[in-house]
Amino acid sequence: MSTTVLIGAQWGDEGKGKITDILAQKAQVVVRSQGGNNAGHTVEVDGTVYKLHLLPSGILNPQTLCIVGNGVVIDPKVMLGEIEQMQSKGISVKNLKIDARAHVIMPYHIELDGLSESFRGKGEIGTTKRGIGPCYMDKAERSGIRMWDLINPVTFEQKVRENVILKNKIIELVYGGKPVSADEIITEYSEYAKALAPYVTDTTPILYNAIKEGKEVLFEGAQGTLLDLDLGTYPYVTSSHPVSGGACIGAGVGPTLIDDCIGVAKAYTTRVGKGPFPTELFDKTGDAIRKKGNEFGTTTGRPRRCGWFDAVILGYSVRTSGLTKIVINKLDTLSDIGPLKICTGYKKGGEIITEFPADLSELALCTPVYEELEGWSGDISGVRSFNELPQNAKNYIKRIEELCGVRVWMVGIGPGRDQNILIEA
Ligand code: GDP
Ligand code: IMO
Ligand code: MG
Repeated sequence: MSTTVLIGAQWGDEGKGKITDILAQKAQVVVRSQGGNNAGHTVEVDGTVYKLHLLPSGILNPQTLCIVGNGVVIDPKVMLGEIEQMQSKGISVKNLKIDARAHVIMPYHIELDGLSESFRGKGEIGTTKRGIGPCYMDKAERSGIRMWDLINPVTFEQKVRENVILKNKIIELVYGGKPVSADEIITEYSEYAKALAPYVTDTTPILYNAIKEGKEVLFEGAQGTLLDLDLGTYPYVTSSHPVSGGACIGAGVGPTLIDDCIGVAKAYTTRVGKGPFPTELFDKTGDAIRKKGNEFGTTTGRPRRCGWFDAVILGYSVRTSGLTKIVINKLDTLSDIGPLKICTGYKKGGEIITEFPADLSELALCTPVYEELEGWSGDISGVRSFNELPQNAKNYIKRIEELCGVRVWMVGIGPGRDQNILIEA
């Protein structure tokens, strides 16, 4: 048996999609367990770029069973659009299963996401406005609509009518927004229900049996540690649990069934949306990284904020997700950037701390402490073994390994399936 949880170790967009696709060539099952179409996972296969938001990145491998677990929030229109997009490219989705317990993103969730962001004004979170937060709010409040409800017309109609009464009060009276129509939602979503019904099932026994049969199972994380609702830079976080523990709840598997947890990070740091970012660069170097790394959001197209690699964050990810090894993607982006900096700790008052602060008010008192390393020049995207990398690139990776207390298992030097260097233990 081999079950692996793959998570983002920073603020998302670390290249999880690419690594999932690579591992999925061996895995028989790939599972998404949290988040929704706030995620944007890019996979490049033979020059074709796929941008996946809801479907597990394993879908590009015809033999892989792809499960969308109970912890995911599903916008049915987006899900169907993605299924159609795959089919139009000749990719089969016959191996897709969606858990009946997964919650449905409704039009009023999307509306409320936008309205609450406007209401926050300067204090906005910078959400993707895909209705993620309001959908998880309804789940926690116990008024949500699940995939099972969606495909059962009588229950669906009753739940939509009940919800719309309250949501319209909030939309109109609290925010002064435009009300939604229950009739229109029921008509529109009934069509989605018919199209999605064949995929909806209780996925938990399927997953359990696959694990017991010794199949290779991969849990594809979305977002990243610092966007975790509990462990991230609250309130500038998403509404689910991207840390490895989230995979257990979001897919209905117990922790004793997980063998390994792998973290994915970039060779530098990026963040989309608002919130603190200790190593953020506001200068030409930040611009150069953004340009060279094409750091623009897969989901919203927003420019990603860029900064130096932060070993404090990685150490925090290692601890909170129990990571046994990490992938460092986009090392190629740092070629020709000049001397590089790694944040080794935070200076807080007179002391140096190496634990990521629990609260933003404490984080605000911190300034990063840097160690400078020599850079390297030239294109490294064709390199296929660790030893062939420029010495300074090797030093950079080895220093990350030392500082984060975890093995660097793979290094990404390009977006392609083959542009990765596996480092033997
Ligand atoms: P995810 O959300 O973690 O799956 O990451 P995204 O797909 O949102 O963003 C990562 C971006 O970096 C994508 O455009 C990938 O194609 C690209 N990428 C991944 N690994 C590498 C790498 O090693 N080098 C380069 N240059 N690009 C990479
Ligand atoms: P992947 O899976 C990067 C960020 C948003 C915002 C915050 C809350 O591609 O790594 P939300 O819409 O979730 O309520 O927004 O979380 N965010 C992401 N940032 N990558 C993602 O996913 C993200 N998903 C959400 O930008 O700051
Ligand atoms: Mg992404």
